[in-house]
Amino acid sequence: MTSAVKRLWKTEKNLGTSKGIDMNKTHSVDNYLHKELLRFTTAGSVDDGKSTLIGRMLYDSKAIFQDQMEALERTSTLRGDDEVDLALLTDGLRAEREQGITIDVAYRYFSTPKRKFIIADTPGHVQYTRNMITGASTADLAIILIDARNGVLTQSKRHGFIASLLGIRHLLVAVNKMDLVGWSEDVYNKIVEDYTTFSEKLEIHDMTFIPISALKGDNVVDKSKHLPWYDGGTVMHYLESVTISSDRNLIDFRFPVQYVVRPHLDFRGFAGRIASGTIKVGEEIISLPSCTESRIKEIIFYEDKLEEVFEGQSVIITLEDEIDISRGDMIVRKHNVPTVSNTFEAILCWMDDTKPLNTSTFYEIQHTTKNVQGYVRNLRYKIDVNTLHRESADHLLLNEIGKVRIETTSPLFFDPYTKNRQSGSFILIDPAANLTVGAGMIVKNISEIDPDADSKIKSTNVMWEDRIVTREDREEKYGQKAQVFWFTGLSGSGKTTLARELEKKLFDEGKQVYLLDGDNIRHGINGDLGFTEKDRKENIRRIGHIAKLLYNAGFIVLCSFISPKREMREFVRGLFPEGSFSEVFVKCDIKRCISRDPKGLYKKALAGEILNFTGITAVYEEPEDAEIVIDTEKVSIQDGVGKLGSRLIGKQTGDGIPE
Ligand code: ADX
Repeated sequence: MTSAVKRLWKTEKNLGTSKGIDMNKTHSVDNYLHKELLRFTTAGSVDDGKSTLIGRMLYDSKAIFQDQMEALERTSTLRGDDEVDLALLTDGLRAEREQGITIDVAYRYFSTPKRKFIIADTPGHVQYTRNMITGASTADLAIILIDARNGVLTQSKRHGFIASLLGIRHLLVAVNKMDLVGWSEDVYNKIVEDYTTFSEKLEIHDMTFIPISALKGDNVVDKSKHLPWYDGGTVMHYLESVTISSDRNLIDFRFPVQYVVRPHLDFRGFAGRIASGTIKVGEEIISLPSCTESRIKEIIFYEDKLEEVFEGQSVIITLEDEIDISRGDMIVRKHNVPTVSNTFEAILCWMDDTKPLNTSTFYEIQHTTKNVQGYVRNLRYKIDVNTLHRESADHLLLNEIGKVRIETTSPLFFDPYTKNRQSGSFILIDPAANLTVGAGMIVKNISEIDPDADSKIKSTNVMWEDRIVTREDREEKYGQKAQVFWFTGLSGSGKTTLARELEKKLFDEGKQVYLLDGDNIRHGINGDLGFTEKDRKENIRRIGHIAKLLYNAGFIVLCSFISPKREMREFVRGLFPEGSFSEVFVKCDIKRCISRDPKGLYKKALAGEILNFTGITAVYEEPEDAEIVIDTEKVSIQDGVGKLGSRLIGKQTGDGIPE
């Protein structure tokens, strides 16, 4: 057995003896190990009373060492304080943070007779978003502290947003300093109302409000006498009783292999920590990426053999068959496999204070036990963490959060983060500096919307070459913003007519513009494609990527394709940063298209001579949120072109300043 595996087990067994845990006589180590663990995070600034709350919880529940308690009382007396300053318990860290010495998250441990707790204590200001993300990523619950005097501030909203982003299911909103607002029920109710309204936009499954005074101890561990109108429990009661067992993913078995254990030729085991789910001896499994099948032969935990194991346990698994598995592979149940793909969409928090996110250099991506090379191909948008608004952006700076598309050079095995926090998260590493520069949560596999997932997976081990001339350089030279106008509509609706006129107008204005059109593209590069749904998807997929190349060349790209399905258009939209892609719905009633019939194709289709003809024998899904709609039955070509021209981004106004 390798020493690393032993270390892994040791950490699990010894958790109960770590420094800081309440090891007082009443609870034995065994007792401790069998108690349910609740991990929670407290995001908030010191002024909100966060340190005092943590201190109060430890103090009133007697979960601190006697000598710490005495030291605390002594210091407070020396300072002439009336009450014991509980914030002193966490003060050491505060001082460090204020000087900017540490950016780490402080973890503290304590236990009560009912449960054991790990608190991830993170600073609350916006410049510590990355710490919050680190600290909260494994939390079951988040405590948001609101100073009753100030009401719901931007910061409290940001904390709620981050908690929801990280999939924290339980939110406890502690309305603190109730003593300073005269224990007012109205003040409390207003905060509850404001925060509830705000949180409707978030994915929080369970939210609880408690009025407290951390300083005086009201409703922290002991019930308050000053709040007769509040009939709920205390913070400690809530922490001890909130149901978290059902939050765990016990369905999807994911076992990322950490080490292959091969002490002698007759034994071959796979060591790792079960990321989610359960598994029993005898169950059928497959190993990814090879897709080789086998059955579980033995499950070894330290010196014992177990019949069944669960999420979070570190074990060695042996299989019935000799199959080739190495570090970074994943063992899963045969009929429950994760997505295997090298393209996905994710929410990314940028953590590097030296360099911004660069969409043209490669990073190392660590996902479960696998490390691969990858690129952030596209920053779709940035999220303003205070207002939750989306903004288009070219890069992410420290603490900024955005939606990105990532491609890796070999496939990863993942689940969406909302389903599985382990196999749905990853970190980005700058290989040159060997620094973690980003933390991500996978939203979805792009293959789900990508019409042709296969073609992506086939081209592995290809590297994106950096360039010296960037799109931005080209844009500056051409005096324009690269962008895409995607014309969609029935055959004969007027797409190409409009796009051609627009191309001419922009060209005459000196723009770099290029029109891609259905009939032309289908002569050459897409000459092998027909009009079945599958072929149309492939048609649009290829065109999307051609448009992307032209976009990268700094062009204004006009694309005129029926593109009848919403999912196809959404796929193409996703290739471009938000704001640089406009869907133009060229609207025209089918009857009118039939009467126009510029190519005589409707006539043939109606006579049954053309199969799958859009609008006749194949569907056309009208856009629901097109940026621009032009009804060619009502608007002249000239007016339509005028309208489109006015929607150009970065258009130069008379004074030469881009709009
Ligand atoms: S798409 O559906 O795959 O987006 P695309 O825009 O490339 O279609 O091509 C449409 C053009 O192909 C039409 O303008 C028409 O001239 C021609 N065409 C030939 N067969 C069909 C068909 N079955 N349905 C629609 N258009 C067809």
